[in-house]
Amino acid sequence: MGDSMRFADFERIVFFTGAGLSVESGIPTYRGKGGLWHEYNYEDFACQRAFDRAPDRVWDFHDKRRAAIGACAPNEGHKIIADVQRENSRTKIITQNIDGLHQRAGATDVVELHGSIWRIRCDACFRTELSNETPLGERRCSCGRYWRPDIVWFEDALHDKTVRAAEQALVECDLFVSIGTSAVVYPAAAMPQIAQRAGATLIEINPEETQASHLYEHPLRGPASAMLRTLI
Ligand code: APR
Repeated sequence: MGDSMRFADFERIVFFTGAGLSVESGIPTYRGKGGLWHEYNYEDFACQRAFDRAPDRVWDFHDKRRAAIGACAPNEGHKIIADVQRENSRTKIITQNIDGLHQRAGATDVVELHGSIWRIRCDACFRTELSNETPLGERRCSCGRYWRPDIVWFEDALHDKTVRAAEQALVECDLFVSIGTSAVVYPAAAMPQIAQRAGATLIEINPEETQASHLYEHPLRGPASAMLRTLI
């Protein structure tokens, strides 16, 4: 690929992002060294059963994550992506991240496949609210039920509206740039194939090989911001 390829050569770009994009903002990834799931057992903190069994313990964990993430800022990688979208409004962003950093960098219409750490929902009244209060002051909805973090936990299905929005972007794109994902969590991990079938050019930005690397004709083996800079 050399340094010839540039964002401006494409019409309909999809950025597909994972935890690796937020590493430079100080947010740990889930797998790999220092990963969150090495420190916490997700069955105890990030699945519906754990929440039903011990909602306050899950909220304690979640409040810690909200506080840690709330103290972080978007990095140059988020900003480059937002700039590309400002230049070309047909640019789409599909993220597995729940940190909201794309939006804080100025990106719009971000498809949050796994929800947002800044949104809570009541599964009794079907209400959702945005709240960046850390810790969350009132853990119960006015109906008395615990607010649930509106994120996709293990064993949860993704919201079908979200999946449809993602698929719509994927079948139309001519450039698919995957950034900082280990490509092991489905259905997100199936998305590069959809872009490939649509005839898009595929670029993988990740310092390490992943299980999906064989799909990408253009691997960029380095950290997100530095690799994105080579495409400006
Ligand atoms: N720049 C780019 N990529 C990086 C960087 C960096 N500076 N540092 C690490 N990475 C890569 C790692 O090599 C790894 O492949 O980021 C990837 C992070 O992988 P995961 O921790 O598995 O994160 P992700 O793929 O986003 O996880 C998917 O799993 O736990 C669930 O719901 C959670 O959305 C999450 C999903």
